[in-house]
Amino acid sequence: MTVPIGPAQLVEAVAAELDGLTDQPLELYVHVPFCASKCHFCDWVTDIPVNRLRGDQTARSPYVAAVREQIRYYGPLLTRLGYQPHCMYWGGGTPTRLEPEEMRAIHEALEESFDLAGLVQWSMETTPNDLTAERLDTMRELGVNRVSVGVQSLDPAQLRRAGRAHNRDQALAAIDLLRAAGIENFNVDLISSFPGETSTAGLAATLETILERNPPHVSVYPYRATPKTVMAMQLDREQMEAWDVGSMIEAYELAMEMLTAAGYHEYCHGYWVRRAEDEDVDGNYKYDLAGDKIGFGSGAESLLGHHMLLNPSAQYADYLRAPLQFAHAERFSLEEPERLTALVGGALMTREGVDFARFRRLTGFGFDELRTTRHFAAWLDLLQECGGRFVEDERGFRMERAVIHKAYITHLAYTMSHGLALARG
Ligand SMILES: C[S@@+](CC[C@H](N)C(=O)[O-])C[C@H]1O[C@@H](n2cnc3c(N)ncnc32)[C@H](O)[C@@H]1O
Ligand code: SF4
Repeated sequence: MTVPIGPAQLVEAVAAELDGLTDQPLELYVHVPFCASKCHFCDWVTDIPVNRLRGDQTARSPYVAAVREQIRYYGPLLTRLGYQPHCMYWGGGTPTRLEPEEMRAIHEALEESFDLAGLVQWSMETTPNDLTAERLDTMRELGVNRVSVGVQSLDPAQLRRAGRAHNRDQALAAIDLLRAAGIENFNVDLISSFPGETSTAGLAATLETILERNPPHVSVYPYRATPKTVMAMQLDREQMEAWDVGSMIEAYELAMEMLTAAGYHEYCHGYWVRRAEDEDVDGNYKYDLAGDKIGFGSGAESLLGHHMLLNPSAQYADYLRAPLQFAHAERFSLEEPERLTALVGGALMTREGVDFARFRRLTGFGFDELRTTRHFAAWLDLLQECGGRFVEDERGFRMERAVIHKAYITHLAYTMSHGLALARG
């Protein structure tokens, strides 16, 4: 049931759920909504007015102050409750649009508010155009040990169609810069079945060049058409052709073949790692049901003590006004199983699927209880119609690995056509 909840009540509720448990792993997320420009495909930054998107000084200063305020309020409370951060992710948007002293200021608030001694991983997202040697120096000095760089494609025409603010050479130079700065753990984001591409040739050529650089991680995201993004509108107006579901699967399978041949393996749909042993040390691998997390910044999501919380986001200005007040807070409930279903959806994309004990620990419900709801049962049927096949044992529930990508892409194509039809209206 959705309930209004203030900061003090939340802390009380979380304390009751934890019931004296200590050393509870916590993931920290810091959202930075600034970007050089709005890419035509992107469905991430929706909360910020266009005139603030580039994040000039007048936009950045109050934002950094609000993030620091939120960290300073919740950090000590969560630390007292027994939470210990084990991994941290700065995403967005583009966190590397912050000036070095702003990164330092946010980090300083985190250090003062949490015990960061147990942090095994700190990841930061960047675009090639927003990565400089100076920023990298600061990131390394602060403790960033993993960087995710969005390349999307190396085809110059596709980069232009996608509205990216960098070219092919800058994308490759960013990888060189990471290596020169000693960041050995990094990821490259790519998009498959990108509208504008009429065959898999562009993706194959991009992957070939990227794989020559031997990155430790590669993400391949099948394109999602999200209403109100430029590319989705172009598709809707038939200015571009959408990929059919069979071709989307083929494009992804081509990426699978190339990555597998190059020695990578997939630990979660779309996420590839070069060495199997890396999997255990990367905090991002088991997300969704990995444990509690707190999100700082506009629109960031938190999962704490059986609650799902959202920071103000509809208007970025709301967050600046009230960074401590959640815009939405709900205790997981079987009466409204949609949030629980979304969590399960994320977990089913991973190789290990839903671990029953962790599911109960995080949500307060048994997985079997969720299954009795009509909503969840119908969703599982849909996933099965999309090609999903499930395996269950006493530990958990997961999707057969060989069909995860087919089920994901077929389900995505279904929701995309539904979403665009709704947008049309
Ligand atoms: C938070 S976003 C962007 C990170 C960074 N600002 C950048 O542009 O490189 C993370 C990734 O999501 C992916 N992404 C964003 N919108 C997408 C969409 N509509 N379909 C598929 N992937 C998308 C892109 O690969 C992007 O790099
Ligand atoms: S893809 Fe990255 S740079 Fe482009 S709009 Fe989205 S978050 Fe910003």
